[in-house]
Amino acid sequence: MTQQSKVPLNPIFRKSLRALRGKGYEQGFSLPGAFYTDPAWLQAECDELFLQDWFCVGRVEEVSQAGDFFSFDHVGQPILLVHGRDGVIRALANVCRHRGTVLASGSGNTRKFLCPYHHWAYDTTGQLLNAPHMESHQAFDMKQCRLKQLQCEFWQGFIFVNLNPLAPDLKQELAPLEKLIKNYHLEEMSLRYLADEVWDTNWKCLLENFMEGYHLTPLHRDTLHKVNPSRLCEHLKPGKRHFGYSVGFSTRLPAERIGHRDLSDREMDTCIMFAMPPGLTVGIGSDYSSFLCLRPLSPSQVSVKMGLIFHGDHWSQQEVDSAIELFQHTMNEDKQVLTRVQQGLASRFHEPGPLAARDLEGTIWDFYQYLSRRQGSASKTMKS
Ligand code: FES
Ligand SMILES: [Fe+2]
Repeated sequence: MTQQSKVPLNPIFRKSLRALRGKGYEQGFSLPGAFYTDPAWLQAECDELFLQDWFCVGRVEEVSQAGDFFSFDHVGQPILLVHGRDGVIRALANVCRHRGTVLASGSGNTRKFLCPYHHWAYDTTGQLLNAPHMESHQAFDMKQCRLKQLQCEFWQGFIFVNLNPLAPDLKQELAPLEKLIKNYHLEEMSLRYLADEVWDTNWKCLLENFMEGYHLTPLHRDTLHKVNPSRLCEHLKPGKRHFGYSVGFSTRLPAERIGHRDLSDREMDTCIMFAMPPGLTVGIGSDYSSFLCLRPLSPSQVSVKMGLIFHGDHWSQQEVDSAIELFQHTMNEDKQVLTRVQQGLASRFHEPGPLAARDLEGTIWDFYQYLSRRQGSASKTMKS
């Protein structure tokens, strides 16, 4: 059972987030457990982060053909991503303009979207095509009726959506990160594995887990440790919208797997792990990369869309399968430990613990600084 708050915890949470602002890495402690278990705090995070900031919904290749679409729920907001037959990829509110039914479900390729309730039909740009028996309505112009369009941007082959019309420009925000990773050319990597899962942990636990190298050796001793051990982790200077660390390879990659020609020798031998909070984490390797798109379902459940993208076309199916197997194996190790983390965080005996050295857990501190900076963002947007 999750911890229920008798008094509103939000003011206490806000005060403790403010208190850590600007403090150094060597003073870092983990957050109190209630940050990960309180439903009211999750609601604040949805309002102030997931409904305000840019969030990644997947890869452009998922909707590569005209008519391709996928639908999803983003913290209670039904959204439709569709490659229109006019060639434009759009994010649309997946809500029928008649009486509000969620329009499309799942994914596929289509010429039109038909609402199951009264059969209003929309084309792949969101324009209403047909509304049976509506001709006699005097204040309704079918030509002016279309699904609401949301901000949608593309960066490094990823698709981003934003529900806040006042959101800052995505590419400007990500310019410092782009400088760091541009030689890996994620936009040229091709998607060979995609999965949707629900994990029994708070969304922050999963983001923190992906973003720290401290656990690579102890938790993934038989898997990741052999390739990217904790001792090779180095913290990277965070930006306003990202943070990350790098980790070297313990042995050199085979010559045919060294990645893009723009990479320096050092980059070829280094993975870059970055997060663009609240929902995207990416592990870049010169040969292939992994990504997770996170969105909370409840304080103790997170939906994870995960994928692997590969550089070049020299990969045999067997090589791809073995990369997928390593990824699934390590993700399962993480999944199991994070269920235990969530249980421990709900314990009345849990107290914040000290964070390890900057190269190992400095990114967790960077994440808390982001949480601290972004709190109250919803009210600021409403005022402006
Ligand atoms: S709610 Fe969609 S057609 Fe009526
Ligand atoms: Fe891990």
